[in-house]
Amino acid sequence: MIRPVLRMGDPRLLQVAEPVRELGTPELDALLVDMRETMAALNGAGLAAPQIGVSLRVVIFGMQSNPRYPDAGPVPYTELVNPELEPLGDTVEEGWEGCLSVPGMRGVVPRWRRLRYRGLTPAGDVLEREVEGFHARVVQHECDHLDGVLYPMRIRDLRLFGFSEALFPGQPGGED
Ligand code: NI
Repeated sequence: MIRPVLRMGDPRLLQVAEPVRELGTPELDALLVDMRETMAALNGAGLAAPQIGVSLRVVIFGMQSNPRYPDAGPVPYTELVNPELEPLGDTVEEGWEGCLSVPGMRGVVPRWRRLRYRGLTPAGDVLEREVEGFHARVVQHECDHLDGVLYPMRIRDLRLFGFSEALFPGQPGGED
């Protein structure tokens, strides 16, 4: 079921989400179905459970190619439960981000360039990857949602935050 996405200002987006304690439950399976359908319907690059009002540490992300991120390489579709991030190196990169909870806007956000992430798949397998660039950015953005952090809270130069249509006239629009 496509669920409404909470928007910035809703206090539920500021909560620290709880770890998932048991995999394979009907509740978790139903949550993942809703997250997949909601992300697909809105053509998002990622979605975290708190964005649909479920305070659990679950994220999904992935992108084939997206006209809104023309420089971004493909990111494999991934579902992660209780993810953990570990930066690799100390390089920080600035890059444009959007968010389904901040529709119609974009901002330049600093993120670790490289990181290792680890979590469980919904089937209970451990998934661990070392990634960089846009893939690393997407994971950091989604995992921030689990700690109640929205990307505008990380913007260092607020001149680089605004409405997509004003920042990038003529580019294809979108919700996130
Ligand atoms: Ni987001």
